[in-house]
Amino acid sequence: MRDQFQDKVVYQIYPKSFCDTNGDGIGDLNGVTEKLEYLKELGIDYIWLTPFFVSPQKDNGYDVADYKSVDPMFGTMEDFERLVREAEKKQIGIMLDMVFNHTSTSHEWFQKALQGDPTYMDYYIFRDSPSDVPPTNWVSKFGGNAWEYVPSLKKWYLHLFDVSQADLNWENPAVREELKQVIRFWKEKGVKGFRFDVVNLISKPERFQDDLEGDGRRFYTDGPHVHEFLKELVRDTGIEDMVTVGEMSSTSLENCIRYSNPEEKELSMVFNFHHLKVDYKNGQKWELMEPDFMKLKTLFQTWQEGMQEGKGWNAVFWCNHDQPRIVSRFGDEGTYWKESAKMLGTAIHLMRGTPYVYQGEELGMTNAGYDDISCYKDVESLNYFSIMQREGKTKEEALHILNARSRDNGRTPMQWNDGVYAGFSEKEPWISIPASYKTINVEAEKSDADSVYYYYQKLISLRKTSPVIARGRIHFLETGQEDVMAYDRTDEKEEWMIICSFSKEKRTLDFIDHLEEYELLLNNYKAIEEDHILRPYETRVYKKVTVQP
Ligand code: GLC
Ligand code: CA
Repeated sequence: MRDQFQDKVVYQIYPKSFCDTNGDGIGDLNGVTEKLEYLKELGIDYIWLTPFFVSPQKDNGYDVADYKSVDPMFGTMEDFERLVREAEKKQIGIMLDMVFNHTSTSHEWFQKALQGDPTYMDYYIFRDSPSDVPPTNWVSKFGGNAWEYVPSLKKWYLHLFDVSQADLNWENPAVREELKQVIRFWKEKGVKGFRFDVVNLISKPERFQDDLEGDGRRFYTDGPHVHEFLKELVRDTGIEDMVTVGEMSSTSLENCIRYSNPEEKELSMVFNFHHLKVDYKNGQKWELMEPDFMKLKTLFQTWQEGMQEGKGWNAVFWCNHDQPRIVSRFGDEGTYWKESAKMLGTAIHLMRGTPYVYQGEELGMTNAGYDDISCYKDVESLNYFSIMQREGKTKEEALHILNARSRDNGRTPMQWNDGVYAGFSEKEPWISIPASYKTINVEAEKSDADSVYYYYQKLISLRKTSPVIARGRIHFLETGQEDVMAYDRTDEKEEWMIICSFSKEKRTLDFIDHLEEYELLLNNYKAIEEDHILRPYETRVYKKVTVQP
């Protein structure tokens, strides 16, 4: 059923920061409904909504306390049903975010477990160990040990994320059945697809042991029964033909082929994050380094060509609610802001895979620019702010790192116009608005024919009108320059060449012979000055002209 999504584009919405319609400073479901026309014009096919379920919001909704209810801060079930109906009228499908690796500790199941109810204790991963010795030395993804002691039970529970997010025990068939019920519930409401949160972490090893080489991830990443569990979930809920995407943490190409090869009947596609670690010093998120573009190119090549060989399918993306803004990261916020935003869009959108646009990316939105700890809301950022200082960094250093790396960079309110609160709300928003909203906003870009917004619109439509982009083969080209990436897309009829410079300097285009045989389809500068010179962050899309015999 791959035909269903090869030429589609997904738009990710973080409802809390998208559009507030009732003036409480928090984005809501009605805000999404209100902006459907905007999304239709952009040309997208699906909206992936991050969690809006009942939650104490310790991790902004990824700590779910009730999978089948809408949190009042986002609206009501009627609002959601209306959104689905209105979206459908515009041929936009709604995809929901299923956080099935863990629940909030406020979830009824965990509360019953805390009371000592054995049925519900078996929904989670409890282990015996003395109160001062965690069962293993595994590190939580949000910092600190991954186990929490419960004195009343004299047991520890596992939390790979925040202490308020307890890992579910997928070995228990009752848990798997509960989660299937959740899928069925939303499917009946007319939802068209699902994103599965950190789904390659659901299968834990039989025996829990210390990791003497790492933080524990090698024991539970792409774990022993993960493929089995996914097959069962998909089969028993009948979602084989829906769009499904799995978020895969620290995964391997081999596993991603299995997750997304249609013959396996697991998922439609997968996110992996290797290309977003090329600016992590020694692989550490909280250590800054300039991006290594050679590594970026190699990773893209490995994953694009590798998934093609294995008949897998990538979800291709730069941004989401966990990542800093890509222009600030691999592009340029200054002189070449517009050029670099367009180049980055091109790099991803013409690849083999389904492109995801994260709200505001189509405007070239930049990082938050926060310089005070009081601006930050994200649990991971706040945890690491203390951890970094405990480990010897100064407060200024820690702030400097958060400024580049915090997930809040991607969570600032959507910039609709240059008015009060960027047109996001009438009230002070839950998280502050970056100063850039004065120039980077929907209204400004819609009145500029040369804007990043219109360029994204063009990229999206190219996928729909060009089978070679949606279904063609991909092959990476040798450019002889570390920061110049080039690939071609081919099918029986066409041959396209996509060239992207990640450099602030000029680069050359002498790695292509017979440029005269190609027609220029897309470029991020007003006009080409010299055929064989790439200007800073220049991108070009060429199509081979077939000479009729
Ligand atoms: C995923 C989500 C992230 C969340 C984590 C735990 O990585 O994208 O926002 O914090 O899972 O649920
Ligand atoms: Ca609101």
